[in-house]
Amino acid sequence: MNDQAHGDGAQLENLLLFLQQSRGFDFTGYKRPSLERRITRRIQMLGIGAFEDYRDYLEVHTEEFAHLFNTILINVTSFFRDAEAWDYLAREVVPQILQRKADGGLVRVWSAGCAAGQEAYTIAMLLAEAMGEQEYRERVKVYATDIDEEALSQARLASYSPKEVEALEPQRLERYFDQVNGRYVFRSDLRRSVIFGRNDLMQDAPISRLDLLVCRNTLMYFNAETQAKILARFHFALNGDGRGNGTLFLGRAEMLLTHGQLFTPVELKCRIFAKVVPPSRRAPPLPADNGNGVDTNSNPRLREQALEESPVPRIVVDANGALAMANARARVLFSINAKDIGRPLSELEISYRPVALRALIEQAHAERRTVTRNSVERRFPDGQVQYLDVVVAPLFEDGAKPLGASVAFVDVTRVTHLQEELRRSQEEIQTTNEELQSSNEELETTNEELQSSNEELETTNEELQSTNEELETMNEELQSTNEELQTVNEELRIRSDELNHLNAFFTSVLGSLRSGAIVVNGNLDVLMWNHRAEDMWGLRADEVQGKGLLNLDVGLPVAELRTMIRPCLAGESDFQEVTLDAVNRRGKKIRCHVTCTPLVAGSKKRDGVILMMEEA
Ligand SMILES: C[S@@+](CC[C@H](N)C(=O)[O-])C[C@H]1O[C@@H](n2cnc3c(N)ncnc32)[C@H](O)[C@@H]1O
Repeated sequence: MNDQAHGDGAQLENLLLFLQQSRGFDFTGYKRPSLERRITRRIQMLGIGAFEDYRDYLEVHTEEFAHLFNTILINVTSFFRDAEAWDYLAREVVPQILQRKADGGLVRVWSAGCAAGQEAYTIAMLLAEAMGEQEYRERVKVYATDIDEEALSQARLASYSPKEVEALEPQRLERYFDQVNGRYVFRSDLRRSVIFGRNDLMQDAPISRLDLLVCRNTLMYFNAETQAKILARFHFALNGDGRGNGTLFLGRAEMLLTHGQLFTPVELKCRIFAKVVPPSRRAPPLPADNGNGVDTNSNPRLREQALEESPVPRIVVDANGALAMANARARVLFSINAKDIGRPLSELEISYRPVALRALIEQAHAERRTVTRNSVERRFPDGQVQYLDVVVAPLFEDGAKPLGASVAFVDVTRVTHLQEELRRSQEEIQTTNEELQSSNEELETTNEELQSSNEELETTNEELQSTNEELETMNEELQSTNEELQTVNEELRIRSDELNHLNAFFTSVLGSLRSGAIVVNGNLDVLMWNHRAEDMWGLRADEVQGKGLLNLDVGLPVAELRTMIRPCLAGESDFQEVTLDAVNRRGKKIRCHVTCTPLVAGSKKRDGVILMMEEA
């Protein structure tokens, strides 16, 4: 590994410690490759550089923790996931569990790492089918746990989309689910036996006294050491009371190759295992005779000869520690001759080679049981090695008074060599198996990651598609508004042309008048001022438009017009006239004749007046 990678590894470990200390989530027992991939994925989404920077980011943006945990905790799951294995469980295992519970006791099941609950409800359906719904409601408890609160909330709702129930057979869907607003909700009367709770497999105590423990596709995220710790807890959690031991159901990639002392395969292909309970150490008591009704004590000669000819080398030491007898095989094996019989054992080589015999004899007497030293090595001068099992049995008279001891030397050289070879092969197989299992688990986790990314992509795709559809409808709406606007525009253009014509017509009418014409509104503000008025009073139409008539500074004494305008505006008169002294644009004094008529709109309301004026 290069320095850069070392740096990255250390940074990742720091980040994991930070998560543990700040949020209590301990990911240190998870497999590194998968963790690294998932966290890197999140970092890349945020466009952040390295693990170290991401840690700083988390400290500032606490809402990011939830996103990170969602990324790490892969929740891929489905109903009856790996249908074949569930079939086997239903066919072979569930009936056995129920058989053991024939007394009507509770059936306790744990779904550990249950994600959004599909697995727990799968178990519920199987048990309801095997027991009948009434019995199920009364006797089943399915504990379903996960570390992920968000997944647990979904699980508690028990509500699934049409896509999520795709794996269910139509009959089961029909029987166990109610349709609510286009979703499928697991029946509440059966749902009541499923109890959801948060449980961290790495830190929390297990659920106990279980008949069935289902932990699928979860162990494979942990490293070997953590898997071993969790499995030890699972072993404790399962029943093992002699009436049949609890069952463990794992995921497709999880094989338990190295935990034979805890679990034994029931059906390896389906990853179903049974708890192993160590057999009792105490051996059953020996029968008083040999089982054939023949009393072996009745013929001492027969016994002596049998001992002499026995293929197992054997010596007998008496209560004083002297060699009392050695059979033919023993004499050859240890070069014992007739003079040695009767001598204290301590004086003979056999007392210390190949093993210290006197200590063993003392132990056998003290403990009143047979003591065995297995595979004791015996080296010959030519380098050959022999292995012996030395079996020391204490001898008592009437079962109480010590008589001596019998020592048998069983040659296990071949067996030992074979065992050694076997052990080596087993180790090799185990290593290969472990490698295989680890590759298998790695493949499966990568597979789940892919599946989860795929699901995310599908969601993004669906979102994109719906955004696209929305854009498309907006486009169509815009297009139709545009067409409407074009029509309105065309109408406006026609009206505008008409108005222009009308305007030109009025301008030419007003321009052609030989009298000055002024139109004012109800406030006496000038609305119109024709060409002749311009000529008479020296102000252009654009200078007076909107201004008060009575405030204009022109040669006409405008203030005097008020008395004729008022009755016309008030509706009291339809015509007024007056002749005033005035001064025209050129400064010439003139007499000006002014008439006033009301400006009547369609409603007959008087909106102003028209003043016509000419030199008298
Ligand atoms: C891939 S899902 C498996 C779901 C289901 N068992 C199945 O096989 O379909 C793995 C689940 O393990 C949960 N998990 C991960 N770490 C956990 C932990 N330390 N304790 C409990 N559950 C954990 C995740 O939240 C996720 O829901």
